[in-house]
Amino acid sequence: MVQNLTEAALAVRANAYAPYSGFRVGAALRGASGRVYTGCNVENASYSLCICAERSAVLQAVAAGEKRFRTMAIVGGREDAQAKEIPCLPCGACLQVLAEFCDPDFPILLSDGVHPLREFLPRAFQLKET
Ligand code: THU
Repeated sequence: MVQNLTEAALAVRANAYAPYSGFRVGAALRGASGRVYTGCNVENASYSLCICAERSAVLQAVAAGEKRFRTMAIVGGREDAQAKEIPCLPCGACLQVLAEFCDPDFPILLSDGVHPLREFLPRAFQLKET
């Protein structure tokens, strides 16, 4: 069965731990194998330790041995209706982590359509001189 990525992101968003912001995020990442990895945001009383949903999904995949990805769906918002209708954009830190593993044309699925990674992070940091 091919799992719907947006449905998977909405499902994992229900597990978000966001008592401070009230902003719940879910991300679902499809690996080259077809397997789906999910993540939600996990906040902390020490605010800077909050972990984003997108990076959580990437870490799940890498820990499972998968480092090539097909696409990611992201949903987020305080209310369920917002999460379905208002695009939740990935933060800069998550974009840089995606750029570590994904090509610039990697498709990111938001509630307003599909966006290539390069649209949000046109020039990712690279550890090289050129
Ligand atoms: N958050 C994510 O999970 N992903 C993002 O790309 C941006 C923000 C979370 C972090 C925090 O728990 C909440 O959203 C509000 O910033």
